Amino acid sequence: MKLKERIQNNLVEIQTKGLKRKLASPCGIDLSSNDYLGLAQDERLKNAMIEGVRREGIGSTGSRLLRGERDCFAEVEKQFAEFKGTESSLYFSSGYQANIGLLQTFLEADDIVFSDELNHASLIDGMRLSNARKIIFRHLEVDEIAKLLKETGCKGQKFLVTESLFSMDGDIAPLQKYAEICAETNTNLIIDEAHAVGIYGRKGSGLIGHFKIEKDVFLSINTAGKALGVSGAFIAGDIWAIEYLINKCRSFIFSTAPLPATADALKVALEIVETEKGSRERLLNLSRFFRELLNENGILVPLDNSQIVPILIGDSKKAVKIAESLQAKGFDVRAIRPPTVPENTSRLRVSLNVGLTKEIMREFIIKLNKEFNRK
Ligand SMILES: Cc1ncc(COP(=O)(O)O)c(C=O)c1O
Repeated sequence: MKLKERIQNNLVEIQTKGLKRKLASPCGIDLSSNDYLGLAQDERLKNAMIEGVRREGIGSTGSRLLRGERDCFAEVEKQFAEFKGTESSLYFSSGYQANIGLLQTFLEADDIVFSDELNHASLIDGMRLSNARKIIFRHLEVDEIAKLLKETGCKGQKFLVTESLFSMDGDIAPLQKYAEICAETNTNLIIDEAHAVGIYGRKGSGLIGHFKIEKDVFLSINTAGKALGVSGAFIAGDIWAIEYLINKCRSFIFSTAPLPATADALKVALEIVETEKGSRERLLNLSRFFRELLNENGILVPLDNSQIVPILIGDSKKAVKIAESLQAKGFDVRAIRPPTVPENTSRLRVSLNVGLTKEIMREFIIKLNKEFNRK
């Protein structure tokens, strides 16, 4: 069989299962982006980026270890570490790169890594790149994790890897419990704050800050392309760990540094997040309103305190049909299907942002209800 034929057969199979993807630009009211605080369109960030481009040009032209390094990267990393309450931080071009690089760097053959079954693909891929033993635990099952961590020994190090706010379910990991268990069992805790940074805690630094467990976390990953409105990601932790990444992390070393101007925009984003608390409060209030209204209308969703609201459909084709129909009515909501989520749990992932209003949510729920009642 020729390669083209093999691929075409695979594509037909994907299509038959209702899993074929196509690329579609934003269209209609935003119910699907991760621009939770609206910072991607903020004039202050745009201006900072323009200034950065004027000063530095566009591309960084090399790896951070070579001519791609700039003062603005070091400045924003210092600012981020202060914001996060860690000694140091390191800025990567994307969260995906940060996650695969971090896990590949620190996990060694004699180690064991414990991972939530719903962890993001970038965490899974990072673990796959290492030779450590992998143990997957049921989503948020604290007792199971405690038992596993106490009973499983190894010659090397133990690691627990979790998202803090889960990207497709919008639920929150019991991080205080994890911190306690990890301390008891000498386990290194790694937390992906992709969807939490910018939203929770006194300063908006994320759920680690909210639960006040900064001292119990080995490293956190904080994406900068979601609530922070730009792109890239910060790994935050102790100086020795960051120094090791600079020396060993393949996805950091063997890749062109981000556009320098992203650092300029991020400096402003961090200041805004820290000082404009009202924005994140408004977002979580909107989320509460939306979740309660869905339930009142018979569309059952969990009452988690987060801006990511999963509306479970189950069947992939049906999820796509409902999403397309809502898109045609002006709501940019997207269907999420396997392998992004487990089999038979296709859903609409509604992600809220501060630009929305209660009126829009009411309208959306009326239209959604009509879709559900359609034969
Ligand atoms: C939990 C989680 N981690 C990591 C990433 C990857 O981040 P990025 O989009 O910056 O590559 C994402 C986003 O897609 C995510 O949801």
